[in-house]
Amino acid sequence: MGKPTVLILDDEKRFTEELSEFLQNSGFHAIEANTAEIGLLKLKSEQIDLLILDIRLNGVSGLDILKDVKVKYPNLEVIVVSAHGDMDTVINAMRMGAIDYLRKPFRHIDVQIAIERSRKFLVLQNKISQLQENCSLISKYIEERINRQFIGVSKQINEVFELAMTASKYPDVNVLITGESGTGKENIARIIHYASKRKDHVLCAVNSSAITDSLSESEFFGHKKGSFTGAIIDKKGFFETSNKGTLFLDEIADMPMNLQAKILRAIEEKMITRVGETHQIATDFRIIAATNYDVEKLVEEKKFRLDLMYRLNTIHIHIPPLRERPDDIEPLLNFFVADFCNKLNKPILSIDNELINALMSYHFPGNVRELKNMTNRAIIFCNGNKLYEHNFQIKAGTAPKYNNNSSIQKLNLHENEAEMIRTALQKYNNNQTAVSKSLGIQRMALIRKMHKYGIQFPPKGHSENTV
Ligand SMILES: Nc1ncnc2c1ncn2[C@@H]1O[C@H](COP(=O)(O)OP(=O)(O)OP(=O)(O)O)[C@@H](O)[C@H]1O
Ligand SMILES: [Mg+2]
Repeated sequence: MGKPTVLILDDEKRFTEELSEFLQNSGFHAIEANTAEIGLLKLKSEQIDLLILDIRLNGVSGLDILKDVKVKYPNLEVIVVSAHGDMDTVINAMRMGAIDYLRKPFRHIDVQIAIERSRKFLVLQNKISQLQENCSLISKYIEERINRQFIGVSKQINEVFELAMTASKYPDVNVLITGESGTGKENIARIIHYASKRKDHVLCAVNSSAITDSLSESEFFGHKKGSFTGAIIDKKGFFETSNKGTLFLDEIADMPMNLQAKILRAIEEKMITRVGETHQIATDFRIIAATNYDVEKLVEEKKFRLDLMYRLNTIHIHIPPLRERPDDIEPLLNFFVADFCNKLNKPILSIDNELINALMSYHFPGNVRELKNMTNRAIIFCNGNKLYEHNFQIKAGTAPKYNNNSSIQKLNLHENEAEMIRTALQKYNNNQTAVSKSLGIQRMALIRKMHKYGIQFPPKGHSENTV
């Protein structure tokens, strides 16, 4: 890091001169501004790292400037300068994101302390932004298009990323992405689409468990006006909408069997017929499918068509759970801390080493999503400037941190899902509509899942089942 640049914005020329000299002697590059206009111009034209801002500028409220600055330059740190009796304004400024304050008339020792604090802060922030850049696997272009980041350093995540890049170079080849919940399947699907030549066309994302059986055919294939009650206009289905783009079929394991057969035919022929029509329409789509189930096992259990699986998994990308790639935990944590602190307008918190050790031995059943949510919560409730283990709600898990036998992991996942369904059935007195609503799935998907796990309703007469 070169010399940090500090802008001193204060209408008292004597003050800016004295402070500027002091800062130059302390290894900073200092710029002075004695009016708000000049200060704002300097912020625009120079790369400023730290702003020292008088909250009682002639005719302008420093707080208004602070607010404006924090919106326009969220990464710029601000130390406010106050006079005696300004404590309320100082508190407001700190709430608005200032990191420190200086009282006028200042003593050199106060400035020195404030600068030391800020210097540590700037170095840390610089380190974090470098870390963010170094550990990001995707380009700025893709980051902006997918509105997410993809962070990782482990060998495993690099292999996943390489495979995704290969998939993006073959825009007509279908891709199957597997991995536990929260491992980043959707991120990878979006990365593949936006890195491929299909990027300027639609990415049509369909959650298979949210499709009702009765409407599924018209949702996928479209329909002609009047072909059934409710078909009031001609409508394109997902296959047509995805023309030249990508059809992302999420939670593919929840796709009903009868629909699987129709989808297979559309994939093979690249032609579809709308419900109520007779003529065929050509459509050019690529499918990226995702699931957190072991599809091969579902095929064995005759819950998923073998021929469809073969069509979908020309390229198979498996994202390993976070506990199997502990090297990714620290860079992900650094990224989430920097990201959330920026969004919450807080100075970037430092991270205690013990916290990293604790996270690295945690089994993360919810994978990256869990780490992300944990970090968000910890930052909201942290009052200091450092994150410790106690700020994180790391559940003392009984599950093993690392388990090589992936079928055991999958079994746990199934059991968890079955358990959630049983609990919801109990809670809502077997009312299917209420249960499916509480689980965020369609009623037919609930019935399929119950069937899959052998969960039965109590015999008739004992149930308040609505169907
Ligand atoms: N490598 C990563 N870098 C940064 N963020 C990540 C990474 N992997 C996952 N995430 C974040 O974690 C969250 C979960 O990811 P995503 O939705 O892609 O998971 P998923 O595998 O599709 O989960 P589910 O099976 O539950 O649908 C998202 O907020 C995503 O941005
Ligand atoms: Mg997903």
